[in-house]
Order: sequence, then structure tokens, then C-alpha cells
Amino acid sequence: MSSSDMQQRSATGNKALSGAKKAKQDEFYTQLVDIEKEIKYYKKQMRDKVILCNCDDPFESNFFRYFALNFNSLGLKKLIATSYIKSTIAGDYLPLLALAGLRPEGKEPYAIEINEVPDHQHRGATDLADVEYLLKHDANTSRSLNPDGIYDGGDFRSQECIELLKQADIVVTNPPFSLFREFVADLVKYKKQFLIIGNVNALHYKEIFRLIKDNKLWLGESIHSGDREFRVPHHYPLEAAGSRIDEQGNKYIRVKGVRWFTNMDNPKRHENLPLYKKYSADEYPTYDNLDAIEVSKASEIPCDYYGLMGVPDTFLDKFNPDQFEILGIPFGNLGKEIGVTKNHRGRTDIAITKDGKSRCPYSRIIIKRK
Ligand SMILES: C[S@@+](CC[C@H](N)C(=O)[O-])C[C@H]1O[C@@H](n2cnc3c(N)ncnc32)[C@H](O)[C@@H]1O
Repeated sequence: MSSSDMQQRSATGNKALSGAKKAKQDEFYTQLVDIEKEIKYYKKQMRDKVILCNCDDPFESNFFRYFALNFNSLGLKKLIATSYIKSTIAGDYLPLLALAGLRPEGKEPYAIEINEVPDHQHRGATDLADVEYLLKHDANTSRSLNPDGIYDGGDFRSQECIELLKQADIVVTNPPFSLFREFVADLVKYKKQFLIIGNVNALHYKEIFRLIKDNKLWLGESIHSGDREFRVPHHYPLEAAGSRIDEQGNKYIRVKGVRWFTNMDNPKRHENLPLYKKYSADEYPTYDNLDAIEVSKASEIPCDYYGLMGVPDTFLDKFNPDQFEILGIPFGNLGKEIGVTKNHRGRTDIAITKDGKSRCPYSRIIIKRK
């Protein structure tokens, strides 16, 4: 994910960054450590697979770097990375490829395809120097991408990139947040496995939520709270709290609400959420316009209640599909679908009465125990 929307949700930078939003700043580069922390849960599933990083300028992207570096240890079949014509060439970050003499002068979008990383240096193992060597000496590993009349070169929706998508088994990247829905729709259309970064707010997109409800998409394992740091190009303003510049002059911005979105399973996802509280009508009031109880903290779901419950979004960070079923979002048209009747404002938004006053909670998901 990224973009202005990510910035918008960063610690305190909302106002200061509204200018950046208008300018549609998409260049938020994921840190290697964040990639490593998530991929460790899926390593076995990557063996012999074609990995595609399709929003990833190989000159900049740590996704490309991670998979190139670990090509042999993960046992990958192939690694493909494509860059987008409008991605900024931020400069001095990754010497890889620049050294290989492949760095384009302008903003020419590239596809890089690696089928093997041989041990050129005969050291008994491979590293980025071997990847550089390969890129420099094997002309088949890189080629330019062209516009196709509808989309710019390197646009993940362009025909050339869709052909690469068709070849892929697993897509791993941080796509532009503004195109998150479209990005996921393509992954679903072509039946791909994926591991992508997005903003937690995407849960509320109708299309994304339906996938979650149908157990076709869930949140990853390594990020459940807090914020994450992303490198940004040198010309980005650093007004948000938590921004910094390192000794090499690279700029970083911290972003809240970052999550991994995936359809790749792992055993951790099937661990039960421990439930310790007992149901009482006083502590868990029923909504005004749906036969469900309000549970304001996911950790306080009562262990002895089997009816419908409204829980905050953070529940999805703990969701075990063997323990719970997700029924819907109790707001607007989605609310109508699961039987929410009109509230005090005449809307199908969930409401609850406290001290004689009816109010709508900030956001809820309706679940029940299995
Ligand atoms: C959030 S950045 C992430 C970059 C890289 N994946 C990473 O995590 O370090 C999103 C990237 O998608 C690129 N991008 C924007 N629109 C795109 C499109 N339609 N097709 C492909 N890439 C796009 C941007 O230029 C940007 O480099």
C-alpha cells in the first residue's frame, strides 16, 4: 500500500500532507525487515513457485531485493518484477542493478525475470553480487515494458503485465493504495495467491469485505498494531510525526493502519482466541436494530455466547476461521443485507442505546461462534 491515503492516516500528518495527497504520492518503499517478518510464515509454500512483484521498480524495491537474495534458499522457480513508468527513481538506495549497468536513464519501465541465480563467485552460496552478475551478463533477464494504448508501461493492468500475472503463482508487493480494489480484483480474477500490503481501512470496501467474509482473504501475521516506516523519495515533504532522515540522507515516514492482506494459509491463523469473560446482559447490551450484542473489545468476546456479536475491526487481527464466522458489516446497504433495521436516524446503521441516548458505534463487524 502507500500513497497519499497511507500518509493521510499517518500519526499526525493529516493536514500537512493534504498537499501531498493532491499530488498523488505513491512512492512508499517497504522496508526489508517488514517483508522478512511476514514471509517467514509462508516460506515452505514458496518452494518451486513463480513469484511476481508487479509494483516494484527493481532499482528501488526491497520485495525484489528479498526474493533475489533468497531465490535459492526459498527454492523459487522464477522471480518476476515489473516497474511502473511513473515510479520515481529515487536514486542512491540500492546499488544493485545500478552496478549491473542496467539502470535506465529515463523512466523506462522494466520487467526483470530470473529463472536461476547461479553461484558465479564459487563461494558455495549466492548473494546479490550473483544477481548483479546475472543481470549484467544474461540479456534475457530484463526487457522494457510498453504502453498498450489504455495503460502506461508497467501498469499492473496493462496487457504485458497481465500476461506476467498469468504466469505467476504468488504475487507479493505493496500496491498503490488508490488502486487497491482493482489490484485485488485482478488477483481474484486470475486465481492467484497473494501477500500484499494495504491499509486496514480497505476492510470496509464492499468488495474486500466480501472476500473476507467468504474466507478468501484475511490479514497477515506480522502486523497487528502500531505504525510502520516506509522510505520515500528525496523530494517528498517530511511533515508527519515520526518522519526521519538517515545518515545517507534517505527519508522515511511512519504510517499507521498498515496490514498484510493475503489468501495464503498458515497454522498460526488457526490458533483459538482465548476467551475468558462470561456473558451478562448488563455488560453486553443488545443493539437497538439488530439481535446482536455489543462487544467493544475483541479480547472480551464472551466464552458462553453463541448468538450474533458486534466487534471492532481489530477482531480481524485475531480471527480464526475455525472458531468464528463473519456475517457482515452492520452499516448502510451491507447492514440491510444482514437484517439491520432503521435506526433513530432512519439509516440501516447499527445503533445502541446508552443512558437513554441512541448512538452508532464507530465501526463494527458482526460475527458468531462456530
Ligand atoms: C506503495 S509503492 C510500493 C513500492 C514497492 N512495491 C515497495 O513496497 O517498496 C507503490 C508503487 O506502485 C507504483 N504504481 C503506481 N501505480 C501503478 C500501476 N498502475 N501499476 C503498477 N505500479 C504502480 C508506484 O509508482 C509505486 O512505486
